[in-house]
Amino acid sequence: MAETTLDVRLLPKDTAYAMVEQHLHATVAGIDDPIALMATMSCLIHQGFGHLWVGFYRVVEPGRLLRVGPYQGALGCLEISFGRGVCGTAAAECRTVIVQNVERFPGHIACDERSRSEIVVPVLDSGGTLVAVLDVDSERLGAFDETDARWLERYVALIAAPAGVSSTEPLG
Ligand code: SME
Repeated sequence: MAETTLDVRLLPKDTAYAMVEQHLHATVAGIDDPIALMATMSCLIHQGFGHLWVGFYRVVEPGRLLRVGPYQGALGCLEISFGRGVCGTAAAECRTVIVQNVERFPGHIACDERSRSEIVVPVLDSGGTLVAVLDVDSERLGAFDETDARWLERYVALIAAPAGVSSTEPLG
């Protein structure tokens, strides 16, 4: 198992995400515990890209309430209602939301005053039910685009279909 986290800040996005994904797969192979996957993803994305805040809000009341899950960064707010802020909007509409400038997003919840832009990606389980959202916040304006969306959606798909975990019962 790799012992150190990668720093991919100076690399082109596709290369950076591919390297972090490789590290992620190597680290969590055979693990299907969603909390362990969320914690490891938060760490590798946070360390690799140097973002301000990276973490998950879990659905604790479907259609109503998100509660903070594994994250890296400054203290995050504990609960967010569906429909509130960027996380609540992504959860309510079950879609990735990219915010280039948080000051222009009505209802943005400022957990950290330094946050300038943000991406929130829905996390589904294997049945297609929304179980969480992944929130990534940056100190830079316009830090996120469709490339980030595509890769982060691919990362969180691991939670529904963990790598190296057999979908059938082991023999014997
Ligand atoms: N900015 C988010 C809230 C969560 S934190 O920033 C960690 C939002 O508007 O949903």
